[in-house]
Amino acid sequence: MCGIVGYIGQEQAAGILLDGLSRLEYRGYDSAGIAVISDGKLTIRRAQGKLSKLREMIHSQSPEGKIGIGHTRWATHGRPSETNAHPHRYGKVTVVHNGIIENFSELREALIKKGHHFSSETDTEIIAHLVDEELGPKTPTLTAFRRALHRLKGSFAVALLHEFEPDTLYVARSGSPLVLGLGEGENFVASDVPALLPYTKRVLFLEDGEVAVLSRKNIEIETLDGKKVQREAKTITWTLAMAEKAGYKHFMLKEIFEQPRALADTLRGHLDLVKSNVHGDGSGEIFKTKADLEKIDKVYIVACGTSWHAALVGKYFLESNLKTLVMVEQASEFRYRDPILDKNTLVIAISQSGETADTLTAIRNAKAKGAKVLSIVNVVDSSIARESDGVLYTYTGPEIGVAATKTFTAQIAALHLVGLLLGRKKGSYKKDEAEKFLHELLEVPGKIDEILKQAESIREIALKYAHSEDCLFIGRGPQFPIALEGALKLKEISYLHAEGYPAGELKHGPIALIDQGSPVVAIALQDDYYEKMMSNIQEVLSRQASVVVLATEGDRKISSLAADVIYLPRMHPFLTPILAAVPMQLIAYYIADHRGHDVDQPRNLAKSVTVE
Ligand code: M6R
Repeated sequence: MCGIVGYIGQEQAAGILLDGLSRLEYRGYDSAGIAVISDGKLTIRRAQGKLSKLREMIHSQSPEGKIGIGHTRWATHGRPSETNAHPHRYGKVTVVHNGIIENFSELREALIKKGHHFSSETDTEIIAHLVDEELGPKTPTLTAFRRALHRLKGSFAVALLHEFEPDTLYVARSGSPLVLGLGEGENFVASDVPALLPYTKRVLFLEDGEVAVLSRKNIEIETLDGKKVQREAKTITWTLAMAEKAGYKHFMLKEIFEQPRALADTLRGHLDLVKSNVHGDGSGEIFKTKADLEKIDKVYIVACGTSWHAALVGKYFLESNLKTLVMVEQASEFRYRDPILDKNTLVIAISQSGETADTLTAIRNAKAKGAKVLSIVNVVDSSIARESDGVLYTYTGPEIGVAATKTFTAQIAALHLVGLLLGRKKGSYKKDEAEKFLHELLEVPGKIDEILKQAESIREIALKYAHSEDCLFIGRGPQFPIALEGALKLKEISYLHAEGYPAGELKHGPIALIDQGSPVVAIALQDDYYEKMMSNIQEVLSRQASVVVLATEGDRKISSLAADVIYLPRMHPFLTPILAAVPMQLIAYYIADHRGHDVDQPRNLAKSVTVE
């Protein structure tokens, strides 16, 4: 997730672009840059680090120009650096981009064979090369732009300048957002509304598969195939604070609703469906040959908090497909033990921030003993990513709410990708089964969307329990970690006492807690554990608990048992934990909000725990 801005008008563009970028910094902040045109000359300024670095640079020498584009980056392809910062230029064409170009490797290789030289590691730069290649004496920029876009697979929002066209700004989108702002003698473009609000409230939302051409007086929209589009402008009534959260009350809620996009990007960033294969950000390189992988006799997954819950879910899939022992450990315990580690051990570290001190030390200890380390990380080029032998990024964009949501579900998806990657390489996962699973994995974002449509009824259920003082979450198999995560979410933001338990353990102690009206959230999907879960639900109901059940859609039996049922789409049992996580997040959110807590910054918690 990155932020794009563009301006064409009567004012100096640099200040307006910087201001817009400052309102989009929540979308990414590892580097930033702008490009402006004046007197037939295009000037680019870029800086690694937060926007303040770029601001300092521009403050000392502001480039002139009344048309420009800008970008704040959250790295995906290519580490955070000045050379990977946008804008990217090739020939007469300069672009900024948000999204992931899936076929960038093959396009890049083809361009290199034709003699193109690349100055960055980004997927974005190929767009400038492709448009420049399509340009010709009889081919106008718009045609070249459209032709180049047709060659891309993946998601994009792009803003483009042609060095010799100081009166035109080109933009396009497919899968990544762009909104156009209408002014008097000036027009704007941005990834999101907050960047526009100080300048105009009249906007046009660009749709997927559309291109727009902005001049000072006019905006023309057409499809990628050249058909004209007529669209009425809308007037935005949000305040700036509302707009930053896209109208949601809290970042946490926004991030819960972003999950379809976050998962789609994480999957898209690594999947090569044509080959039915999975590629990592160098992770495939850890094991160069099948024989290297066969030497691995055990896998440890180390992580903390929510990331540890993702690890617990991943164990089921990995063990089943690698046919290797997989152990999951809290990094804070693992680092102080003396685990059996050697060159035949694979350690998978999971961390949203990539900076968690316990996880970082755990991988350092593991490497010192010769183990190979593969990490699943959200923040590109963070310490854990840098110190691992291989990394597979979750492309969720920055997560601002302290309670992890979108990164949790993306971590589970990333673990599935690791299982597919290694299982296929080792030959322990059959090709046709892997392909089938991969296709179902790609359906997960859409299924999450279906669950999010039930948010209002989930809120109604949650509010019935908002005054409780404690809550029990139960599940079995790969749903047990989701019970743990449901309890953790509730504890973190609503400050209620909550426990997650494997349902089979109820009778060994926790059932003593159950009394009239005790809330119990049970995950009872129609999988191998269904009958056992039904018995556990009966057990707590007979002690007069109030039960909320997460059930499989179409399960009529469950509705006669429990008053509150949340239905989840039917999917492969390894995928349903991702789906079950979503209502858990919503339940915690609605209860915490009802109780009036600071959901995004709960007491005593920090987003990244960089101390012991
Ligand atoms: O950045 P990490 O994933 O390494 O962080 C691990 C935990 O600190 C984190 O998941 C924490 O439990 C969150 N507050 C969960 O919402």
